[in-house]
Amino acid sequence: MSIPRLEEIISNSLSKRKTLQTPETNLIRLIDGAGDNLRGHILESYGDGWMISTSGPGLNPEIRDQLGRYGKPLYWKRLDQHQKESPVHISGPGMPKFFTGLENGLKCRLSFQSGYSQGIFIDQRDNRAALRDMVKRGQTVLNTFAYTGFFSITAAAAGAVTSTLDLSQVYLDWARENFCLNGMSPEDHHFCKGDTFHWLRRFAKQARTFDYIILDPPTFSRDDKGRVFRVEKDYGRLFDLAAACIAPGGKILACTNYRAMSTTEFMAQLNGAKLSPEKMPEDFTDSPYLKSVWATFP
Ligand SMILES: C[S@@+](CC[C@H](N)C(=O)[O-])C[C@H]1O[C@@H](n2cnc3c(N)ncnc32)[C@H](O)[C@@H]1O
Repeated sequence: MSIPRLEEIISNSLSKRKTLQTPETNLIRLIDGAGDNLRGHILESYGDGWMISTSGPGLNPEIRDQLGRYGKPLYWKRLDQHQKESPVHISGPGMPKFFTGLENGLKCRLSFQSGYSQGIFIDQRDNRAALRDMVKRGQTVLNTFAYTGFFSITAAAAGAVTSTLDLSQVYLDWARENFCLNGMSPEDHHFCKGDTFHWLRRFAKQARTFDYIILDPPTFSRDDKGRVFRVEKDYGRLFDLAAACIAPGGKILACTNYRAMSTTEFMAQLNGAKLSPEKMPEDFTDSPYLKSVWATFP
């Protein structure tokens, strides 16, 4: 089926984001589905490469051809598959196995060939920038569910001492590479492999505290012992464990991308702190799904 005004829709979406794409930042959502009049289609720039994500078994050839006219390395990812696979190269030059993207001048190691996720969640860009502005040299930041550690990189760039915590050794190694890529030594920082709940209990027992804690868990996860975490049921418990490890005057950044929960319902799970909810970055024009709340403790 032909899409009316497709060329115009794409060029309007790109020109709306012109000011966001700077020599310092090339990790941007370029088309955000219905928010840019192209329901069901997400186009993102990762360094020199573009990735289009859709549901369903194929990409509309008209969209593929229109995007192909920009001559960029273009990859396609299917959003609705159970077996989550790496994106497929569909036009333009291919990207190397690993390449680099930039967010506010910081380098991030990326890949379109290392599974379903590309190495950074770009919807956290504004939260990372806020953390970088807030944190002071020598303060401590615990980045839980850290993935490739980009919150840690951002905080370390502002002089913080970071602890990067994730279940996956592959992602912890990727985080170390991100430190090196930015001229910072991973040896000056801490890395914890394992379950966030386990580590938070352990830190609390040791009376170890942090000035900032980042809590951005997946909606559903299973730890190394097979125990299940569900945002709707378990977030409050996770937040309380983190609160036990926060230094006086410290902050938790509490996030979830669980769509079925409103910001009000989410905030009702966050006790004992002054709460300040944040908006999503301006390139995310479809209905906002990421809930982010800075919780400041007395
Ligand atoms: C949604 S991502 C987190 C996004 C990340 N905060 C960011 O902004 O880049 C999920 C990450 O959580 C990790 N993870 C899942 N369950 C975990 C658990 N119980 N403890 C620690 N890490 C976990 C996964 O290995 C993965 O790297």
